[in-house]
Amino acid sequence: MCNPFVNVFNLADDNAYQRWQISRETCSHPSIEQLLVEVADPFRLKNSEKQAILARCSRYNMAIYWLRGFSQQPKTLVSALGRQLGLQHLDANLSADEDKITSLQVIQQQPGHQYIPYTNKALSWHTDGYYNKPDRQINAIIMHCVSAAAEGGVNHLLDHEQVYRYLRDENPAYIKALMHPQAMTIPANEDSGRLIRAAQSGPVFSLHKPGGRLHMRFSARKRNIIWRDDAVTIKAVKRINVLLDDTSHSVKIALKSGQGIICNNVLHNRSVFYDSDTHVRLMYRARYYDRIT
Ligand SMILES: [Fe+2]
Repeated sequence: MCNPFVNVFNLADDNAYQRWQISRETCSHPSIEQLLVEVADPFRLKNSEKQAILARCSRYNMAIYWLRGFSQQPKTLVSALGRQLGLQHLDANLSADEDKITSLQVIQQQPGHQYIPYTNKALSWHTDGYYNKPDRQINAIIMHCVSAAAEGGVNHLLDHEQVYRYLRDENPAYIKALMHPQAMTIPANEDSGRLIRAAQSGPVFSLHKPGGRLHMRFSARKRNIIWRDDAVTIKAVKRINVLLDDTSHSVKIALKSGQGIICNNVLHNRSVFYDSDTHVRLMYRARYYDRIT
């Protein structure tokens, strides 16, 4: 069977892109209901549940699952879900636990550098692992909500292929600039003179593999991002930020206990949140080098 995505993201092949555009018209702005899949047992996905998740990831690059009625939430459910969806290769980031799955919660006394994901502060728009080396790009994420905060902690999600569409339709030169291998540089991460991570340059948009689906590296942070000194690149980044500020393009979700997001590393953010004695936000997050196909 031919790959329907061959050349879709190639600027030289406008026909393939236009055909894809037509097929994607009905895929814009999914509702929570369109993304939601109820799962009875995360350790033993029914074929219908698996196909429902895969179909949503193919169409929208994301799905939301809900373990309604499944009372236990051991951490192993995340890797079990991933395995059944073809996700095998976990990224071991600096703060991941031994099983390479991160417990995201407020840590009052972080040793050394204060990482915002482990505070209750808002997280600006980004894709995960934008500072990773090219051979360690994060292509898929599972984020499972064990317990929600008393207030806040809302996520917005936006399919990065939609962002590509908006930009290419407005000016294909934006895409060319954002595919440049030096488009975005993350300075080295140093702590008290100790090098934790070397500086990392790379494109914003790239292909998962030749002829494959789109990958995006991005952070809306104003600090610690060096954009290529080129007028088109600077303008393209501004356009992305305008799109992200308009929440009519994105999906808004406040995950409840037992719900989770499975996605091909779409753009996302997080609002500020407040825990109480009885409602403490805890998320399990797995990041994969594999893509959900
Ligand atoms: Fe993230």
